[in-house]
Amino acid sequence: MSDRVQRVSAIQKESLSMPEDKKLLRMNREDLRHLEDAISTCRLCPLWQGRTLAVPGAGPAPARMMLVGEAPGREEDLSGKPFVGRGGRLLDRALQQAGLDRSEIFITSVIKCRPPNNRKPLKKETTSCLPYLEAQIKIVRPKVVCLLGNTAAAAVLGRQGIQALRGRIWQERFAVTYHPAAVLRNKNLMADFVSDLERLNSLQDK
Ligand code: URA
Repeated sequence: MSDRVQRVSAIQKESLSMPEDKKLLRMNREDLRHLEDAISTCRLCPLWQGRTLAVPGAGPAPARMMLVGEAPGREEDLSGKPFVGRGGRLLDRALQQAGLDRSEIFITSVIKCRPPNNRKPLKKETTSCLPYLEAQIKIVRPKVVCLLGNTAAAAVLGRQGIQALRGRIWQERFAVTYHPAAVLRNKNLMADFVSDLERLNSLQDK
């Protein structure tokens, strides 16, 4: 038997003896890895030319909750990790106050590469990037997807206006709240931001 055939049959034996849930977890991780590779080398829109690193997202798969921001900023572009700058630190505080554990949440953004000078993503950039988010939602299978801010709400739900969109579940799994950057600009929004996250925390357990 060749080396390759031996290796394949060892993998097949291992996977036959593996419980279904472990097999599924392994598939999820592999699917996410493939997707991350595609995102990291993506050239579907011109944003690739200015990126240091693409920021596919981070977190477990499956995960009961997913958070979706707008686009990576400077620190995210340098590290390849979502929400690690000032907005990320505020998000961490809010999650903690809401009794949520960041390590159990899949966190990503609509756009995976940093727009120049952190400008708002253009329509054509959102259109190119959205299939990656849709694929992530399929793989991660979250019970609740929380859209942070108008860019995420407009891209996914085709609606804007945080005040009007908060406090409801859209299309059975989507919720909308403020983007952490908006809360950084207006600290008065923090209490509502935390209470939105708290509500989602209780929903994901139902
Ligand atoms: N803002 C976002 O929307 N996403 C990030 O990853 C960081 C900041």
